[in-house]
Amino acid sequence: MIKAVIFDLDGVLVTTDELHYQAWKQLAEEEGITGFMREDNLRQRGVSRMASLEVVLEKADRQYSDKEKAALAERKNNIYVASLANLDKSAVLDGAFEFIAFLKEKNIETAVGSASKNTPLILEKTGLAGLFDAVSCGLDTQKSKPDPEVFLIAADRLGVPYENCLVIEDSDAGIQAAKAGGMYALAVGAAKENQQADYRAADLADEAVRGIF
Ligand code: BG6
Ligand code: MG
Repeated sequence: MIKAVIFDLDGVLVTTDELHYQAWKQLAEEEGITGFMREDNLRQRGVSRMASLEVVLEKADRQYSDKEKAALAERKNNIYVASLANLDKSAVLDGAFEFIAFLKEKNIETAVGSASKNTPLILEKTGLAGLFDAVSCGLDTQKSKPDPEVFLIAADRLGVPYENCLVIEDSDAGIQAAKAGGMYALAVGAAKENQQADYRAADLADEAVRGIF
């Protein structure tokens, strides 16, 4: 029985997944790294900033030191945060506000479980802040998805057993994390074909999502 829903943020609730991709693309171009493509971005979904950087650096023709990597990650974050300047409610994905309200009516607990350290900023800017019973993000974790840590923290904060939680994810790493944590998983967006997930839907506006409850 599902008693709580844990939402991933980028690509599930908000369109910021595209802004992450654009920021990495700009960084790659500035560094003269060619061949970083949209398909590579699939493996950046859900994983930490440093793990995402490694996906870009696979295309580089030299090795980078840890110090250089830290500087690149910071530069990407600066590009990304600058691109959030005009972020508002209109960036919230189809069906998200309505689905959160539907869960409230059904007395199902809600949380955010995101790798992003920018989670509080994005929730604030989009009007999503305050709508969830708990938030767990990259600021709280030691390990990145596919490790389940971020979802386990969310469930613990809600006080709901892991087996009663449903995670909604647009990344393969996130689906793997949910299953590793003993939770149900709904795959949406870029991950909507993921066969490891218990449920699949195009987005939160899809009728199939409410059908789960
Ligand atoms: C995830 C994104 O939500 O957050 C990843 O899917 C991103 O692509 C990760 O790398 C970390 O985000 P941030 O904002 O802490 O760099
Ligand atoms: Mg995501």
